[in-house]
Amino acid sequence: MRFRQLRRILEKVVLAGLPVAMGACFVDEPDCYETVQRSLTAMIPADPQLQMRIDSCRVDVDACNALCTLALARAREPAPQSFRCDVEFLGDVVSMVVSYDVPTGDPSCPVEGRRPDGLAPLRGLRATSAAGAWLAPAAWLEAASVHAFVRLANELERHAAPRALIRGALAAVPDELRHTAMMTRLARRYGAVVPAPEVAAFVDRPLEQLAIENAVEGCVRETWGAVLALWQSHTARDPEVRAALRMIADDEIRHAALAWAIDRWAVPLLDDGARARVASAREAAARELLDGGDAPSLPVLGLPAGAELQRLARRTQLSLWNGGRSCHA
Ligand SMILES: [Fe+2]
Ligand SMILES: [Fe+2]
Repeated sequence: MRFRQLRRILEKVVLAGLPVAMGACFVDEPDCYETVQRSLTAMIPADPQLQMRIDSCRVDVDACNALCTLALARAREPAPQSFRCDVEFLGDVVSMVVSYDVPTGDPSCPVEGRRPDGLAPLRGLRATSAAGAWLAPAAWLEAASVHAFVRLANELERHAAPRALIRGALAAVPDELRHTAMMTRLARRYGAVVPAPEVAAFVDRPLEQLAIENAVEGCVRETWGAVLALWQSHTARDPEVRAALRMIADDEIRHAALAWAIDRWAVPLLDDGARARVASAREAAARELLDGGDAPSLPVLGLPAGAELQRLARRTQLSLWNGGRSCHA
């Protein structure tokens, strides 16, 4: 499958879901996101600015977020982009609980990026906002993708792959460096620190292992990363995020098309058993995305969530992964 053909399919998948349609919600996937809570208190009577927000919250629950935002600022804690604020009035005491979701950084969660073999789990993530907590692992995965493509080029060379495939893998390295820089800048803007990926030394592998990794990381995950980036390039409220994701989406579609071309070359060289194992790894990866947890509701980043996310994954599956089209169609 070539770049233009794949881009047409993915644009159809994304555009079919716009404008946003809301429906039933998923339950959060605990492995991908955890809820952070901050407890704050205020005494009544408070200073005029705080008292006005307390009074507004007492009569209008929708006004309570403004109260929590001010209380967080007074406590010198930045307000997350998206949070829930629960307020209780107990005599002279106003008790506030601010809750928001942050990714755990589990690399099996569906965020864009090709993971190299031997990538250690994300550690040392620090973020002061939910948007930063999403952007930092995304930037970390972009940095990991640099390692993945350098290794892929070397591996393709060792397996005597066609020059065009090796050139494609090498051309992806500067793309991923650019993505890392863009996502890291955005993550920092949203108060996050991006840890460097740790990757174990490369060990020579048979072609079957390369084909399995390519099917999972390229045909499924990078393709899904391209779908998400395309979606966010239309829906993110932050114009800088939209612009960055627009550029990343095009590159990721090219990387996904490369993965499909590698699959088309590698799979026919394998025996029947190995081909079946590649197919089953690809199906399991697609299934993992389809059964995966919900994403946080972060309008600033335009992430699809709930039923919207489910529909997007299903349309991708029907159009590419098992809609009569195998990875090497
Ligand atoms: Fe990337
Ligand atoms: Fe990529």
